[in-house]
Amino acid sequence: MLLKDKIALVTGSTNNIGLGIARAFAREGAKVIIHSRHAEEAAKIARELNGDSFAADVSRPEQVGALFDHIRKNHRKLDILVNSVAAQASRAGVLELPLEEWNQTLATNLTGYFLTIQHAAKIMKEHGGGAIINISAASGERASPGRAAYSVSKGGIFALTKQAAVDLAPHKIRVNCIVSGIVGTPIGSKEMGNRKLEYDSIPLRRIGQPEEVGEAALFLVSEKASYITNAVLAVDGGRMNSMGSASGG
Ligand SMILES: NC(=O)c1ccc[n+]([C@@H]2O[C@H](COP(=O)([O-])OP(=O)(O)OC[C@H]3O[C@@H](n4cnc5c(N)ncnc54)[C@H](OP(=O)(O)O)[C@@H]3O)[C@@H](O)[C@H]2O)c1
Repeated sequence: MLLKDKIALVTGSTNNIGLGIARAFAREGAKVIIHSRHAEEAAKIARELNGDSFAADVSRPEQVGALFDHIRKNHRKLDILVNSVAAQASRAGVLELPLEEWNQTLATNLTGYFLTIQHAAKIMKEHGGGAIINISAASGERASPGRAAYSVSKGGIFALTKQAAVDLAPHKIRVNCIVSGIVGTPIGSKEMGNRKLEYDSIPLRRIGQPEEVGEAALFLVSEKASYITNAVLAVDGGRMNSMGSASGG
């Protein structure tokens, strides 16, 4: 088992990609802390995976603090953090985006990642190191019309990963990024809907499954990736390499 006796927090793990990652980690022996804003849903998944759960809104610093107080009190250490939470903003571009939406999207998608990294790294450095993954998206790399808040938040995750990888390396904490392609259900939805327009642009000609992101994340947090930090791994069927400027995601 690749993650025997490891304690792992996967934020946003009651659905889709976060859930796929949590399942892969649990299968490999980790105790996974399942997280979302909804305590009941998180507890249900935690029972299924023999893990723990905690509800917190990552856009609220005091709630993030409470999440890590819980981890310190109940698990004493933390070996792995995966940031998978995302708020999907509206289709507003730079001209029309309301300030309130900009602030809320960045608070969840970027500042939320920063806060969990900061808290997690404080625990990890006391216990000899750890591994962190941030989930980003192609729209952080390539702009698409009318996705200003989401795209900028996802672009910020690349910069945050680079900075954290450098700052945390002396503490033996590796920080990597996964660029998820079109995987499972759309962000914020439990329904598949019609994703045909999106997957027509994927060289492998299909959308990805949460399990496929789970296996990539498992590799990156395991000892098999012990010399990998600041990597950006696209799990996207080749999409980012081939997408035009009109595609989003
Ligand atoms: N799905 C895709 O095709 C796709 C494509 C590109 C990139 N991605 C990236 O992959 C990651 C996961 O996406 P996904 O499709 O799995 O998203 P999802 O299905 O919408 O799941 C998001 C999770 O985050 C939780 N969450 C949302 N806002 C939160 C907040 N403010 N505080 C705490 N928890 C919160 C949700 O639970 P609650 O609502 O119960 O809180 C849920 O567990 C994201 O970073 C996204 O940008 C996904």
